[in-house]
Amino acid sequence: MPLLEVKNLTVRIETLKGSLSAVDNISFSLTEGEVLGIVGESGCGKSMASYALLDLLPPFSSLEAQQLSFLNRDLLHASHREKRNLRGKDITMIFQDPMTSLNPSFTIGFQLRESIMRAEHNKKKGWRKRAIELLKHVGISEAHERLDSYPHELSGGMCQRIMIAMAIATRPQLLIADEPTTALDVTIQAQILKLLQSLQKEFGMAMILISHNIGLLAHMANRVMVMYAGQIMEMGKTEDIILRPEHPYTQALLAALPENYSNTKHRTELPSIPGLVPDLAHRPTGCQFHPRCKEKFDRCEKELPELKEHNKRKIACHLYDPPSTKLT
Ligand SMILES: Nc1ncnc2c1ncn2[C@@H]1O[C@H](COP(=O)(O)OP(=O)(O)O)[C@@H](O)[C@H]1O
Ligand code: SF4
Ligand SMILES: [Mg+2]
Repeated sequence: MPLLEVKNLTVRIETLKGSLSAVDNISFSLTEGEVLGIVGESGCGKSMASYALLDLLPPFSSLEAQQLSFLNRDLLHASHREKRNLRGKDITMIFQDPMTSLNPSFTIGFQLRESIMRAEHNKKKGWRKRAIELLKHVGISEAHERLDSYPHELSGGMCQRIMIAMAIATRPQLLIADEPTTALDVTIQAQILKLLQSLQKEFGMAMILISHNIGLLAHMANRVMVMYAGQIMEMGKTEDIILRPEHPYTQALLAALPENYSNTKHRTELPSIPGLVPDLAHRPTGCQFHPRCKEKFDRCEKELPELKEHNKRKIACHLYDPPSTKLT
C-alpha cells in the first residue's frame, strides 16, 4: 500500500511578475519505509512540492491535484485542523537552516517538550527524561545541560541534531528533510546525513530527502526524482538514475558535481550548468530545459515532452520518445 500518493499536483503562486506554476503537474508516490530523493537546482520547485502536502505554502499560492493522500487519508479535502494534526506528528519536517527553525527566545528543553507532548497526548509528566533520551539518540552529549541552553549557544550542527530530535519525537511515518545539510560545514554535513540514515533505518520511517546536490542522494535514496522548472524530468531507482542517467538535465547535474568537473582551466569557479533556470512567470515553449540543453533539436522548442516509461525509469525527453509514425 502506498504511504503517500500524489497525482497531478500543481502549485500556483501569484507574484508581482504574474502568476506562475512553481510545481507543474507532477505525480509520485512513496511506500512505507522508502527514501525518495528530490533533486534539482535552486528554484525548481522541490520545496513547494513537499510544502503542498502540509499546507505550508507561501501566501498567494494555491494548489490543485487529482489526488493527494497519506495512508489512504484524503489530504485534498482534509480540514486545516486535520492537516495540522498530521503535520508534526505522522509527517514531520526538518529545514535547511536549523538556526532559524528553532525559536531563539526559548530553551531547547522547552521546544523539545512541545514535540514530546504532541507525541504523548499532551502528557506533561516524564517529558524531561524523554527529552534527554532523544538528545542522546541524536548524538548530543551532556544532554542534561543542553536542555537549558538557548539555540544561539549551540553550533549549527548541534541545532540540526535538535531539529532531528524534535522531528523523530513523534515516531513519524514520513520525515521530509529539505536541504538538511546545505547550511552546514562540509564535515558536519556528513555526520548529519549519517545520523538521518541510521534513524531512518532504525525506525523504518519513509523519508523525502530534498537536495540540490545529486551526489548526496546516491547513498541514501532508494529512488530519485529529478525536477526542473516545477516538472519531473526523470524518476527511477537511484542506481539507474545516478549510474545510468539518460535525461540531459540529470546528466548535466552529475557532470557539474565537483568530483566530476574536468574543466581544469576554471578550477577556481564553482561548477554549474551553463545558463539559468527559467523565469517561471515567463516559461520557455516546449521542453523547459531546451535553452540549456546540448542535445536539443527542432521538436524540443515546440513540444513539451511527456513523462513516459523508458528503460526502467520515467523520463520526459523527446530523445526517448520518437514521434508516432502513421501506418498507411
Ligand atoms: N514565497 C514565494 N513567493 C513567490 N514565488 C515563490 C516563493 N517561493 C517560491 N517561489 C517560486 O516557486 C519556485 C519554486 O520554489 P521552491 O520550491 O522553493 O524551489 P526549490 O526548493 O527547488 O529551490 C521558485 O522558482 C519561485 O519562482
Ligand atoms: S526534450 Fe530536447 S531539449 Fe529537452 S532535454 Fe530532451 S533533448 Fe534536451
Ligand atoms: Mg527549497
